[in-house]
Amino acid sequence: MAADLHRLAITAMAKTHSPYSGFPVGAAILTEDGRTYTGCNIENASYPEGWCAETTAISHMIMDGGGVIAEIAVVASKHPAITPCGGCRQRLAEFGKPATLVHLCNMDGVMETVTLGELLPKAFAMEDEK
Ligand code: THU
Repeated sequence: MAADLHRLAITAMAKTHSPYSGFPVGAAILTEDGRTYTGCNIENASYPEGWCAETTAISHMIMDGGGVIAEIAVVASKHPAITPCGGCRQRLAEFGKPATLVHLCNMDGVMETVTLGELLPKAFAMEDEK
């Protein structure tokens, strides 16, 4: 399944709007109940107004009714094994679990798989059970 998510993330990355950074990123989410959602980074002439590929993918999941993120693949054509930024780690923590798998990819495939708990230990959450 990680390979499928990698493929979906590559396809999503092709839709990037990143003329300012020149750094295309794609992401693909698998929910616990088996749905997939993708996203690319979308930048803006007012630089701080852009957002990440993971955020676009989460938005699609939420607008389709929400869900729990079981796995996510992230890929960037110009990075050997991209990891989600700090803000996206917090967003992933909102809709995932410490055991959520995060596949760090490049164009060739999944380079490393880590858990969200490893990426964001002691995440801020409103509920104790998270
Ligand atoms: N970016 C992502 O889409 N995801 C990440 O996890 C890291 C950074 C984007 C934001 C910006 O459009 C570009 O990569 C350069 O930072």
